[in-house]
Amino acid sequence: EPRNTEVEQPSTSAAESVHKQPFVIGVAGGAASGKTTVCDMIIEQLHDQRVVLVNQDSFYNNLTEEELARVHEYNFDHPDAFDTEQLLCAMEKLKHGQAVDIPKYDFKSYKNNVFPARRVNPSDVIILEGILIFHDLRVRELMNMKIFVDTDADVRLARRIRRDTVEKGRDIGMVLDQYSKFVKPAFDDFILPTKKYADIIIPRGGDNHVAIDLIVQHIRTKLGQHDLCKIYPNLYVIQSTFQI
Ligand code: CTP
Repeated sequence: EPRNTEVEQPSTSAAESVHKQPFVIGVAGGAASGKTTVCDMIIEQLHDQRVVLVNQDSFYNNLTEEELARVHEYNFDHPDAFDTEQLLCAMEKLKHGQAVDIPKYDFKSYKNNVFPARRVNPSDVIILEGILIFHDLRVRELMNMKIFVDTDADVRLARRIRRDTVEKGRDIGMVLDQYSKFVKPAFDDFILPTKKYADIIIPRGGDNHVAIDLIVQHIRTKLGQHDLCKIYPNLYVIQSTFQI
């Protein structure tokens, strides 16, 4: 009987290749919505797993001299501000078990070649975080789970003002101009429309402990299935037969 034969004679290499694939989580949401807090909480609760965080910010394009001279007219919230090809290239390597050097981005000098770059090793879980991380279909297709952090606009603006003036040393007038000229329109035009791709929408971001607990439980279940595949390679075939 073909089905039994399949179960009894599994392809070990198929089981191995399935196991090696990391579990990729995408975390999107408006600027200052609390994405970083959500990611940190997931990482903290998965302390016994190999988890790595990749920020979309690391893939900001470097500005030309001309753009730097008129930086207040540059739209950092537009999809074209990011080098998505480079992000895809890094993810391709990580998925194939290779370490990658990810650039560090400096919000003060607007440069993404701050040395040394961050060495990222292949891991069991990769978290991809960024305002427009759901924008490109090819990046979305890498993800096993998509989370959208949904925080009210006034909360995001308040956090942004505090962060940009205190941490980035920017002038409040400039922060408000950038918000009304670029940040708010880009949220409406590019970020909010990607909410429909999310599997999970977290209201209130990092304050939502129940949502984080549920997400971590689900990830553990998925990783547990992978661990079982490692111990019992035959399980892979059973899994695919029953489409778990
Ligand atoms: N940005 C900026 N100056 C730059 C590059 C980016 O002000 N040189 C701003 C963009 O305008 C964009 C924001 O950075 O709105 C994206 O970062 P954000 O999502 O706020 O950062 P996180 O810390 O990842 O967000 P969260 O608070 O959700 O964790």
